[in-house]
Amino acid sequence: MKSIPVGLVGVVGYTGMELCRLLADHPEMTLVRATSRSEAGKPLADVLPHLAGTRLAEMTITAPDMDDLAAHCELVFLAVPHGTAMDMAAELVRRKVRVVDLSADFRLRDPAVYADWYNLEHRHADLLAQAAYGLPELYGPEIAKAVLVANPGCYPTSVLLALAPALEAELVETDGIIADSKSGTTGAGRKPATTTLFCEVHDSFRAYGLGRHRHTPEMEQEVGALARTPVRLSFNPHLLPIGRGVLSTVYTRLTKFVTADEVLAMYRRFYAQRAAALGASWVRVHPPGTWPETRFVRGTMFCDLGILVDPRTNRLVVVSVIDNLCRGASGQALANANLMLGLEPAAGLPPAPLMP
Ligand SMILES: NC(=O)c1ccc[n+]([C@@H]2O[C@H](COP(=O)([O-])OP(=O)(O)OC[C@H]3O[C@@H](n4cnc5c(N)ncnc54)[C@H](OP(=O)(O)O)[C@@H]3O)[C@@H](O)[C@H]2O)c1
Repeated sequence: MKSIPVGLVGVVGYTGMELCRLLADHPEMTLVRATSRSEAGKPLADVLPHLAGTRLAEMTITAPDMDDLAAHCELVFLAVPHGTAMDMAAELVRRKVRVVDLSADFRLRDPAVYADWYNLEHRHADLLAQAAYGLPELYGPEIAKAVLVANPGCYPTSVLLALAPALEAELVETDGIIADSKSGTTGAGRKPATTTLFCEVHDSFRAYGLGRHRHTPEMEQEVGALARTPVRLSFNPHLLPIGRGVLSTVYTRLTKFVTADEVLAMYRRFYAQRAAALGASWVRVHPPGTWPETRFVRGTMFCDLGILVDPRTNRLVVVSVIDNLCRGASGQALANANLMLGLEPAAGLPPAPLMP
């Protein structure tokens, strides 16, 4: 069978590296272009030595050139900062190349909201209506038809999967939702910064970006779509002294009396139906009284949910765990690419995490 040629812009970043790990063994896609401005001209395995011996090792990294990518690739992953991705996506889409953008450039439907939170005018607002939001359990059919997919942020992925069944069933109030999230330091990218140095992160724990993190409007947009009403929520992120992983604890108020067993059954039914429609099962609801850990999902597409119905405070609390680089970025990007290219949604994605 013919392998589908794909390209990757931003190969030396954390999400680019993770895409290489996954594409190194993809049964139906071949990475034919991997770009970096700083490492162009070098063999891939010299720059990413952990990929020596894989089928990507002999590749030479090239400079990002949209003409070259369009000439050789059916689909391109953009693993570059926001603000940079939008022009690349516009050029590629114009040349009929499919794009999965890992940045935030096409996630927000309203360019005014983008300008407000990202402090940048959107230069290709005409493309926003064409972009599918790449959360496969919620938007599988739209993703399969899309030429441009906006891959969700890591925190929104964890929070939306925690809330979707409860919102669809109108089980929780849309007012006063709190998402308290923690991320490993790869979430900040590979570009050096004092705040993510080992000695600044190791053996400590801190909050950051409270009330103003840029994933807030993305969550509000998608929670609002699920709830069919505008929503304001509190999103407060924290930095964990680990490499990979996001754990979000999401606090809501119940609209009616339900038992823990009923909520558990409802969550399991919701995701079983979504998995059957999608052809891939990536959300696991933990047995009552047990809680997911970041290591349970490492390097995979799994989102593990733990559910608490607390009649004392009238709350539904959901603990949601993902790997920020795989489900929160590159694995989800690959799943979206699989859908866009008519492949099995789970092709090339690891079936189980590395443990311990
Ligand atoms: N890290 C995560 O957990 C995560 C999760 C979800 C989404 N994302 C999003 O995914 C994107 C990539 O994140 P990351 O963590 O991989 O970032 P990163 O580690 O900082 O890597 C950025 C990559 O983009 C390239 N790049 C930077 N500026 C560029 C430009 N102007 N033109 C072309 N290439 C450029 C860099 O290589 P050169 O400088 O050599 O060109 C590098 O390969 C970001 O938009 C981020 O918000 C990240």
